[in-house]
Amino acid sequence: MRIDSFKIEDWMNKYCPEAKYDLTTTCIKPLCVNELFSFDSSKEIFNTSLTYGDIQGSLRLKNAIKSLYENQELENITITHGAIGANQLVFLALLERGDEVVSVLPAYQQHYSIPESIGAEVKKLFLKEEHNWLPDLNELEKVITRKTKLLTFTNPNNPTGSVIPDSMLEKIVEIAEENNVWILSDEVYRGLNLYGNPYSKSIADIYEKGISVGSMSKTYSLPGLRVGWIAAREDLIQEIIKHREYNTISVSILDDYFSAIALENRDRIAARNFEIMNEGVNILKEWLASEPNIHCVLPKGGTTVLLKYKKTIPSKVLCRELLHKTGTAFLPGETFEMEGYIRAGFCTGKETLTAGLTSLSEYLKTSV
Ligand SMILES: Cc1ncc(COP(=O)(O)O)c(C=O)c1O
Repeated sequence: MRIDSFKIEDWMNKYCPEAKYDLTTTCIKPLCVNELFSFDSSKEIFNTSLTYGDIQGSLRLKNAIKSLYENQELENITITHGAIGANQLVFLALLERGDEVVSVLPAYQQHYSIPESIGAEVKKLFLKEEHNWLPDLNELEKVITRKTKLLTFTNPNNPTGSVIPDSMLEKIVEIAEENNVWILSDEVYRGLNLYGNPYSKSIADIYEKGISVGSMSKTYSLPGLRVGWIAAREDLIQEIIKHREYNTISVSILDDYFSAIALENRDRIAARNFEIMNEGVNILKEWLASEPNIHCVLPKGGTTVLLKYKKTIPSKVLCRELLHKTGTAFLPGETFEMEGYIRAGFCTGKETLTAGLTSLSEYLKTSV
């Protein structure tokens, strides 16, 4: 099966290793093993044999994931290799050649390139800066029809940092419901709203055909545990499990164990992470106030922000030159179909963020 190359991943694999100040990252300073162990008084993992473990994920982990939702039962949840594994399984289980998919961009490329590789017709709906990077419901109403099988979006959004308000989410559900459309909401940044309740409503809790994808990588700062999940209607989960059996068996028993511990201690992780996030947003605000060459909508959640630069230089050239001259890495908008923008991770910690933004300012003073 042919598939486009994954542009963001290609870029990061090629350029991030040489970065001194890496602002391409979407993670909030990952936890180290010692910190995780400090949450675990039993240390029972030392006496656990390294079998495949529970094939569908341990009951302890599934219960911890269930507690992130309002109305999901254990039967509605399956464990995957990260959100990347989860998204792929959803597309494989749901789509066939000729199906119509509406994908809200900018987004993680899986959300349009996998459906395209399956042979689906993908309609791309671009978020716009003038709408604060929120979906335009009038446009959505026009683009979704009875022919549409799946609507897919990311909430909170990577790369823009926008958060769909719960009231707008309800309206999106109404549009989908009228047309009998599934919704896949990539919720890997759920729990990272900067204002109000950190957790937006999950699509799986408010819509019968809502599919929620989550993972340990962003909100819980554990990308090294390759654990994600899908919460959805039980019959769809059963279809997904058919595909899962061909590519997963189980997630590592170590990943399963530590993920459960982390989720049981998520308040402690959140307290630490919100300090880093708030510090990042404050640095960003201060920098923007004295930076004439950049415009941006400040993030409402998540870990990234989209910067519009007031220059004509292509984003890839900008990012390559900046990296070579200063050691600072940003992600070029061209890699996610947003030429003229660059993405910055603002949860990289004070030193990296300040140094990275300062070097961008210096660079923009002299570029065309
Ligand atoms: C929107 C989105 N979905 C999925 C993923 C993959 O996450 P995971 O590490 O859980 O596989 C990412 C990673 O950056 C992401 O930003």
